[in-house]
Amino acid sequence: MQNSAFDPLRIGPLTLRNRYIKSATNEGMARGGVPSKALVNHHRSMAAGGVGMTTVAYCAVSADGRTFVDQVQLKPETLPHLRALTDAVHREGAAACAQITHGGAFTFLPQLSTRYPLSASGGFNAVGAISGRFLRTGMQEADMETVTQQFVDGARLAREAGFDAVEIHMGHGYLLSQFLSPAYNRRRDQYGGDAAARARYPAQVLRRVLDRVGRDIAVSCKIGVTEGFKKGGTAEEAAVIAKILEREGAHLLVLSGGMNVEAPWAIFGSPMPREAAEIAQNPVVRLASRLMHLVEPKIEFKPLYLREHSLKVRAAVSMPLAYLGGAKSIQGIDQVIADGFDAVVMGRALIHDPDLVSKFASGAATESGCTACNRCVVSMYTPAGTHCVIKAAPDASLNQIPAAP
Ligand SMILES: Cc1cc2nc3c(=O)[nH]c(=O)nc-3n(C[C@H](O)[C@H](O)[C@H](O)COP(=O)(O)O)c2cc1C
Ligand code: SF4
Repeated sequence: MQNSAFDPLRIGPLTLRNRYIKSATNEGMARGGVPSKALVNHHRSMAAGGVGMTTVAYCAVSADGRTFVDQVQLKPETLPHLRALTDAVHREGAAACAQITHGGAFTFLPQLSTRYPLSASGGFNAVGAISGRFLRTGMQEADMETVTQQFVDGARLAREAGFDAVEIHMGHGYLLSQFLSPAYNRRRDQYGGDAAARARYPAQVLRRVLDRVGRDIAVSCKIGVTEGFKKGGTAEEAAVIAKILEREGAHLLVLSGGMNVEAPWAIFGSPMPREAAEIAQNPVVRLASRLMHLVEPKIEFKPLYLREHSLKVRAAVSMPLAYLGGAKSIQGIDQVIADGFDAVVMGRALIHDPDLVSKFASGAATESGCTACNRCVVSMYTPAGTHCVIKAAPDASLNQIPAAP
């Protein structure tokens, strides 16, 4: 009999109550890096709304691994706040996942401990057009070991904070995806070359994280099924990468697409609205949004916009895979489950309505009212943090109050 998205799902040591996962969507709710009560409420509402697991976005594994100052860093000082969050999620019966990340060359931090940001290879840094850092440094093996250990320590801290899973971010143009991407990785050593060689370092990070925490918590990886631009990685290469991560023992792959700098529209399957640039309060984001409009191709949102590429990865591996990208209706979710995906990951549909899964279950809704306008992407820099702009904003004052006393 075919699975339903409401069936439990086992991923590694973790069993989810259903197959609906809230995607990591940068919440903008950790001012100065301190997880706030608003962040707790955000994830509590996702859990209360019925998801099997909610993912806390962009938890940086080191200070240099952040992209902005207002981002959670996995360190002892943030542990009590994260514990308040996981407790709240567990009280609502859902699991909590921490997305563990290093931005590499994609960073807007005012200060770094290295002269240039680290990446797979040195040279011109495309994001420098916005960040002002026009160069990046190729990592030496010693740097790679340091960062691997930071991922391991981050995963351990997430486990200690009560998370049931960690998602290693290998997509969207952050450090590990800079290794996977043919456009960023020009290395001539064993970590560069074809897709299998480019996957070597991300796979090593996965192995070390699995060795340390994989018996206690689930370890997933978020990868791109297409980078979405001419010189970027393809679905065929993603299939090779998926096989390697499967062999290494990943418990789940979350399939995404696009790259922050070169093809952000491929992350979302829809363009950023022009006015969104102007409502951004952060000047860096405002400039980025304006620049993006100059190069953005015409693109119209289609539900399940990553399905075709994701199916190529589905055909290549037998491990659990989560479909992501424009899943917003019961019909679409039934489709991807029928395709053989084991779970469905949703971002905007749940930002729009955290109760969507409960509404699907009760029959109160069959489709999300999210219009894929992407104005929530810009809202992450507003005082209230990430929210659906066609609905009431959450209480911004809670974004000033640390999650734990
Ligand atoms: C406001 C917002 C912030 C996001 N921040 C992140 C992030 O921090 N990490 C990440 O992996 N993806 C991030 N994404 C991308 C989503 O996780 C997801 O890949 C994308 O929204 C497509 O899924 P959807 O069609 O279900 O919204 C963000 C998306 C949105 C809308
Ligand atoms: S602002 Fe609301 S309607 Fe627009 S994409 Fe975000 S969640 Fe959907």
